[in-house]
Parts: sequence; C-alpha cells; structure tokens
Amino acid sequence: MSSRDIYKPADKLIGHDKNVWMEFTALARDYKAVNLGQGFPDLLPAHFVSEALGRVAASKNFAVNQYTRSQGHPRLVSVLGKLYTILMKREIDPLSEILITGGAYESLFCAFQSFLNPGDEVIIIEPFFDCYVPQISFAGGVPKFVPIRAKENATSTKDWVLDKEELESAFNENTRAIIFNTPHNPTGKVFSLEELQLIADLCIKYNVLCISDEVYEWLVYDGAEHIRIATLPGMWERTVTIGSAGKTFSVTGWKLGWSIAPKELIKNIQTVQAQVTYTLATPTQEALAEAFEHELPLLGTEKSYFKELGSMLQQKRDLMAKLLREVGFKPTIPEGGYFMMADTSDIDVNFDEYDKSDDPQDYKFVRWLTKEKGIAAIPPSAFYSSQHKHHGSKYIRFCFIKEDSTLQKGAKKLKEWKDEISK
Ligand SMILES: Cc1ncc(COP(=O)(O)O)c(C=O)c1O
Repeated sequence: MSSRDIYKPADKLIGHDKNVWMEFTALARDYKAVNLGQGFPDLLPAHFVSEALGRVAASKNFAVNQYTRSQGHPRLVSVLGKLYTILMKREIDPLSEILITGGAYESLFCAFQSFLNPGDEVIIIEPFFDCYVPQISFAGGVPKFVPIRAKENATSTKDWVLDKEELESAFNENTRAIIFNTPHNPTGKVFSLEELQLIADLCIKYNVLCISDEVYEWLVYDGAEHIRIATLPGMWERTVTIGSAGKTFSVTGWKLGWSIAPKELIKNIQTVQAQVTYTLATPTQEALAEAFEHELPLLGTEKSYFKELGSMLQQKRDLMAKLLREVGFKPTIPEGGYFMMADTSDIDVNFDEYDKSDDPQDYKFVRWLTKEKGIAAIPPSAFYSSQHKHHGSKYIRFCFIKEDSTLQKGAKKLKEWKDEISK
C-alpha cells in the first residue's frame, strides 16, 4: 500500500488554516464578553426587509422555493440594474453586467479565480479584509502590499493616507490587478477623489484590473461622499465593483452579494461561480429584490433607509468614541463603515507576564481586554502583511453597529475599568 498521507492538505492551503475570527470569536464567547469587535449588527433588520422575507415564506408561488437563474434571480438583478444605472451614471444591463453571489466573499473569490494565472501579481492596499490574501493565493496570484499610513497624531481617517510613489512602485509588468476597499474595513477611511484618481491613473497606465470592494457603500458620515471608482473616466472598462446585501440592509446572515462589471468580465466570473454555488438561495434573493424595490423610489430623500442607517450609525460612532476616550484610548474617527481604530498607546498594561506569545501587541491587548475586562475587540494587525504588521499593532478595532443596549453594556464595563484606573 502507498505511504501517502491522505490527510495532507493541498500545498496551497499551507499557512492559511487559521484566521483571526476563529480565535477571537471563541474568546468572546468563552469569556461572555460584550462583543464590540466582530462586524455583525446585533440589531433587527428594518421592518420592510424582514416583512419581505416573511411574505416570500408564505407565498403560494412554488417557484420562489426552487432554483433560480444561475447569474442572479431575475427580479433582483432587474432592481439592482435600475439602482446601479443611477449610481454608476451609465446604463447597467441587469442580465449581462450583474452577477449575484454568496455574499461579497464569493464575488471576490470568483473574481480572483477568473483572471489570475500563477505568478500574476495583485496589489492589495492594506490594512485589508483578511480573505483577500488566501483567495489570491488559492488562485495562484502573488499579493503585493501597499499600506495606507496614519499621520502623526491622526484623529480622523482623513489622516490615513496613501503615498503616491510607494503605490506606483508596486506596479510592474506582472501586475494583473489592484484590490482596495472603500469605505474601509478596518479603519473607516473613505477614499477621496484624488486618491481614487491616483489609483485609476495607475490602473490605466499599467493596464490592470481594479477590484473595488464597496460593501459599506451606504455608510458614510459627516457629509463624506462615497465615490465609485468605476465612474471615473476609463475605469468602467476595467473595474469589478462588489457589493453586499449583508452590509446594505444589516442582514449579514443572508449571505448575498453582487459583482457589477462589463459583460466581458462578468462572463468569466460567472464561469467560476457556476462551478461553486451555481445558483443562490431564491427566497432571500426574492426578498432582497423587494427590499430594493421599496428603497429605490426613496433614494436621496429623508425617508431613505440608507440615509436613516447613516444617521443612526453616526450617533453610535460618536457615542463609542466618547466612551473609548474616557478610559484613555485615542480613537480615529471614521468617515465611513462601522469600525473604529483606537490607539492603545496611552493605556499602560504590562503584558510580559500575562501573554508570553510572540504575537503582536494588539493580539495581546485584545486577549487581555476580553479576559480581564469583558470587552471583545479585534486586533487589526491581522489585516496587514507580515512586513507591515507594526502599522496596526498599537490599535485595536471596535465595531459600532450594535444595539444601544450592547453599547451601554460596553459602557458599563468601560466605566468600571475607568473607576479602577482613577482609584
Ligand atoms: C471589506 C469587506 N469585504 C467583504 C466582506 C464580506 O461580505 P459578505 O458578508 O457579503 O460576504 C466583508 C465582511 O465583513 C468586508 O468587511
């Protein structure tokens, strides 16, 4: 018999078997900590969203429970086509320029698989959503990292910037694509027109694709504007814009997302998707279509859910920043998204005895905060390449899309901590 190890994973899996969520989700659960870390809302979705799903469940139309069109449920792509025709400032063909996927995750995965050959380089602006690296590696691609850097004493994500020369130096003839995310996880940065133009100019100059992860597209504060890079001159032709129902309607468990791109790109992404999920759940697609149909006529008005969500989150953001400041964190105020980076440098905790691992400081801080103070967060150095982890390790990431009662529970824990400090 052969001595083959039947449990040996494929080589491409090596080094990708752990991720930050596994440890820190379990830690939050085991210590019954108030979870101010992980990026899921603990609020109920808007009533028109849940009611739409209820109506689908009670429907007498058998078809809503059966397989639907592989590229996306017709009713859903139809309304997304109308919406993105407005947002992209061009006619979007629902049947050839939109692909529905299992969350933004599957859009990302299928996009990388669809255009990368072994050795192709992909520039990742960091910090980055952690699945980009394994997904690019599984497709044979080679990640190249360019960090956004916080200026000295940064107080807002406007102070987290890209360096033009550093970005351009990452491009070469092997560069196949660039991926970035705006509004940004984990910082909450909203890329400015100048920064997007810089990325666009380089994409055009080096003839590369642009993967624009815009899952937090509706979450911008203080009058910041979310600009879609696909709307800049010469960019539609080379951009895949990725969205998420989970982030749009606070229903992360529905796991529906979409790619919007020229038909030549969508066709290839769909070739992969047809071998992964082939078709997504019909009931949730039908309900999501109804939710967008409800929202479409309200777009830009005071009654728009997207507008209400933004105002609600801005208040939660401000409350969280205040609470964090009271115990000595220095939060960076995000212009978008639902995360906040808080600088821990002024909080004096000695981890030498507490945590003897070689992990970055933020990992130790979050373990300590969860176990000793009952507050769970996420260490942001997980969103950096190994050579740039030091850019993130003095921060920890908090998430503020939480019920007021959860924020109040967090506030109580923070207050107890503050009382201890001031004794
Ligand atoms: C930047 C970013 N992209 C993609 C995703 C995945 O979105 P989905 O839940 O729709 O797969 C997330 C989820 O947290 C995210 O933060």
